[in-house]
Amino acid sequence: MTGSVKLIYGDQEFKLPVVEGSEGEKAVDISQLQAATGLITLDPGYANTGSCSSAITFVDGDKGILRYRGIPVEELAARATFKETAYLLINGRLPNREELTRFSVLLNDNSLVHEDMRSFYEKYPRSSHPMGILSSMVNALRSFYPELQNLEEEINMTVTRLLSKIRTMAAMSYKISRGHKVVYPRPDLAYCANFLNMMFDSPVKPYEIDNDVVNALRMFWILHADHEQNCSTSAVRLVGSARVNLYAAISAGIAALWGPLHGGANQAVIEMLSDIAKSRNMGRAIERAKDKKDPFRLMGFGHRVYKTYDPRARIMKKMCDSLLNKLKISDPLLDIAHELEAVALKDDYFIEHNLYPNLDFYSGIVLQAIGIPTNMFTVMFAIGRLPGWIAQWKESLDDPNWKLGRPRQIYTGPTQTQFVPIDKR
Ligand code: SDX
Repeated sequence: MTGSVKLIYGDQEFKLPVVEGSEGEKAVDISQLQAATGLITLDPGYANTGSCSSAITFVDGDKGILRYRGIPVEELAARATFKETAYLLINGRLPNREELTRFSVLLNDNSLVHEDMRSFYEKYPRSSHPMGILSSMVNALRSFYPELQNLEEEINMTVTRLLSKIRTMAAMSYKISRGHKVVYPRPDLAYCANFLNMMFDSPVKPYEIDNDVVNALRMFWILHADHEQNCSTSAVRLVGSARVNLYAAISAGIAALWGPLHGGANQAVIEMLSDIAKSRNMGRAIERAKDKKDPFRLMGFGHRVYKTYDPRARIMKKMCDSLLNKLKISDPLLDIAHELEAVALKDDYFIEHNLYPNLDFYSGIVLQAIGIPTNMFTVMFAIGRLPGWIAQWKESLDDPNWKLGRPRQIYTGPTQTQFVPIDKR
């Protein structure tokens, strides 16, 4: 504990302890506030409120720092596999060779989806959004894999099934939505390549694995793997705090991520860039983003925590340029994105509001170059974020201070009134 703060309320004085994290972050511990003072705090959107202590991910929004279990995301994006990163987040350290091999075998052995699930997909309206389908299918996994008695085995098996099957389920929704034959996972392909093959292989045009594309997907998923207590992670923790099964908690995280202010922004960025390409009026978009009366936001810009360039956006931008060069793709949306970023970063409004490109600004262009359809962009975010959600859920399970999440409120409705019978209303 590091010192305390004094709270003077009426003629009373209270001392609240201040706690400090390993990176020097400080928080007032208000866990006894209500009992001691009768007061609660009010913080819409929890912008000033920490929900937990966590040892998984550290973000410094002013310096643009992001580390998973202490390792800078730049190093992991340059040198790690996505499997290693998932293992690191979930287990707290990188796997040795033997552990990584065992992890790979387990993922491979659990990559198939129960055949009965296909009817779920086939009954879904073809126009359904893949995020809605994914959230339902993940929740449905409990029905196919009943809870094991041994808690450790239950957790390990559920984690492995989720990490492996989420790829298969995502690719299945894509194939079935197009009326194409479902492609099964292959034991000879690693995590990222296997997903790409399930998405794009076809009997008439076998999919050729391109290492540049596999590498881009590897980096894409590493950059998305975790990000402290963001909206969808907080949903997983809150739903998980009721001690519901992990499939249901992850399903809630997928639902939260779907929102255009959160994970849905990567799809919204591409739609925004396409609109600018059509209207040829970038200035209009900038003006609308600044107009308080207009709900339009510059998608892919701004962040609750980063008040400087999102370090993930920096890596994504570089990777985007290099991938499009290697694939010899000239995407007009990339030129628009570069120009929009340059204009916005020189504009006083964006400077004063500390608005910079975030993770989602360039990610859609990368996904488009890989061949992912726009309506699956947020599904790609979900596959990347899954290890982070799992790690955060596991940490909450092991936290002795963790309890059922149940925020308070300040009531502003009518004071006591009487029931009025229908003939008197
Ligand atoms: C993700 O939390 C995470 O870690 C999320 C994430 C993760 O990895 O999990 O990083 C992933 O969700 C990235 C964010 C993706 N969303 C978008 O790109 C949507 C566009 N961005 C904005 O909607 C907004 O920036 C948010 C939602 C991301 C953050 O907004 P906040 O922190 O709630 O801030 P705010 O909406 O209160 O805005 C503060 C001010 C306002 O102006 P004032 O009323 O103070 O004058 O900044 C303005 C806003 O109008 N503003 C913007 C803007 N973002 C904020 N103005 C124009 N365009 C924008 N994009």
